[in-house]
Amino acid sequence: MATIRASITGVGGYVPEHILTNKDLERMVDTNDEWIVTRTGIRERHILEKGKGSSHMALQAIERLMAMRPTNPLEIDAIICCTTTPDYIFPATANLIGAAIGATNAFGFDLQAACSGFLYGLTVGAQMIESGRYKKILLVGADKMSSIINYEDRTTCIIFGDGAGAVFLEPDTSGNGFIDAYLRSDGNGAEYLHMKGGGSVRPASIETVTNKEHYVYQEGAIVFKFAVTKMAEAVETIMRNNHLRAEDIAFLVPHQANKRIIDATAERAGLPPEKVMLNIDRYGNTTNATLPLCLWDYRHQLKKGDNLIFAAFGGGFTWGAVYLKWAIEV
Ligand code: UT7
Repeated sequence: MATIRASITGVGGYVPEHILTNKDLERMVDTNDEWIVTRTGIRERHILEKGKGSSHMALQAIERLMAMRPTNPLEIDAIICCTTTPDYIFPATANLIGAAIGATNAFGFDLQAACSGFLYGLTVGAQMIESGRYKKILLVGADKMSSIINYEDRTTCIIFGDGAGAVFLEPDTSGNGFIDAYLRSDGNGAEYLHMKGGGSVRPASIETVTNKEHYVYQEGAIVFKFAVTKMAEAVETIMRNNHLRAEDIAFLVPHQANKRIIDATAERAGLPPEKVMLNIDRYGNTTNATLPLCLWDYRHQLKKGDNLIFAAFGGGFTWGAVYLKWAIEV
């Protein structure tokens, strides 16, 4: 019997209309466009209006996904929403998405692995398809990072943006689809990138709000060092384990946290810039949305059978790489 693999059969991406430029940030904190561009590669990011959550952007992305791959919502078996900024602590944002699109035959859950969430979700979803038990999984990456960013902190507010992306995972016996994953996490990294308040240890109180504990806390230089090392290591490992040389790879699909991290990862893998998906200049770091937004932006350049290497690093620490053969032509 032919091996069942999980293929990505459609993609949709969305960023909100409102743009926050480096020039805008110059008026908010002590920074400048030149510093932000040279240190991060970011020129602008998109910000969702107040009163709307990650599911709002997810639904826009799903609408575009459905336009590419028309689907009866009743056929969806499961919804995995990878997010660090769920609409609410509970219920899961996946369930709100399911209700909004009428996926009444699906079960849903959120997956939290910070910036590596979509990579983990892709792996979990693929295993569910490979089991033969599930035929259609809606995998979403969505984050309203602006809801947890302190716009008085120049070390974090310049980096993050809001956005969402969504893909379908479906069984494929042609040889294309999800091939391999190398995933890791290390809770020792928690102290360098986290949000102190809002969880069960320090639930919201006047004190946590006064202390600004409901915002992203990051020790950037330390995270940077880990990210460069671990992302490159993950890409090298997955290439070695699958006997892939640089010339076999069509595209590296890297998490968009800092262009310098992306460049270092590509260089260690021997991949030239034209084989590296890049949109950090326009969106900043959209956390769980970076990878599907890359697929969305590059969809017309992808061909059936292309070897793609996804890679990410994020809070937790979490990191890894996935090897997938692209299965559609748009
Ligand atoms: O996606 C999740 C994982 N996150 C990441 O991968 C992010 C990893 N970290 C980074 O991308 C970088 O560390 C940052 C972009 C956050 C910071 O860049 P850096 O080159 O590591 O800068 P730094 O933190 O070492 O700071 C260098 C200098 C400092 O000034 P002094 O001490 O040298 O006088 C900072 O105070 O740059 C200063 N600085 C700024 N200057 C202008 C920090 N932020 C800014 C700013 N504008 N926005």
